[in-house]
Amino acid sequence: MNIQTFPSYDDMSLHAAQIIANVVRTKPDAVLGLATGSTPIGTYRHLVRMHKEGTLDFSRVTTVNLDEYIGLPDTHEQSYRRFMEEHLFQHVNLDPARTFLPDGMAEDPVAEGARYDELIRRLGGTDIQLLGIGYDGHIGFNEPGDVFVKATHPVDLDPSTIQANARFFASEAEVPRRAITMGMGAIMGAHRVLLLASGQGKKAVFDASANGPIVPQVPASILQLHPDVTMMFAEG
Ligand code: PGA
Repeated sequence: MNIQTFPSYDDMSLHAAQIIANVVRTKPDAVLGLATGSTPIGTYRHLVRMHKEGTLDFSRVTTVNLDEYIGLPDTHEQSYRRFMEEHLFQHVNLDPARTFLPDGMAEDPVAEGARYDELIRRLGGTDIQLLGIGYDGHIGFNEPGDVFVKATHPVDLDPSTIQANARFFASEAEVPRRAITMGMGAIMGAHRVLLLASGQGKKAVFDASANGPIVPQVPASILQLHPDVTMMFAEG
């Protein structure tokens, strides 16, 4: 495991973007595993800048996102599809037909999880998976529990996650209670993993994930078993 610390959020974001950009430059038809949340926004900003400067071409890239709320249509302003459009998709030359997220409106979320895992399998897995980390140690929406769940699956969000995400909604009551998340199988199947955390509030869970026991109560700790993971922490 490669652990890197940066003095600022922008330093971390720039380094993360450079790693992802190099994956795409080396393999123009790369499959990028992407994440939502406030942490990757700076990374996306740098990727958009590189594209606008003419040094990064997304025309053959495929993206698969980690998760989506259950019950929010794509058009809802807090859907993760909308988030990705606003922060990345609409600013670069990705083919919209090759940008994938779990379908949070699927009638059968378990079957949707199986479909999504099959899609990732057919794509050959992700070349790099970008991750944030929740205050409770979640990656994607794999919340703390008694087991690591392998499949892409529906989850009940942890009360702390609902509270943390309430800042994006008019009230906590409006935050969806459920989501579909990529499971640990697809995340650990990525060729490379890049986890980002920013701010002192994330320090304890970052350290526990990087150095603590590998337990499902700290979901990100499973990454210690991945052969090519970089964990970046921004001090401020
Ligand atoms: P954040 O969320 O980047 O908004 O802190 C991270 C996460 O919950 O994975």
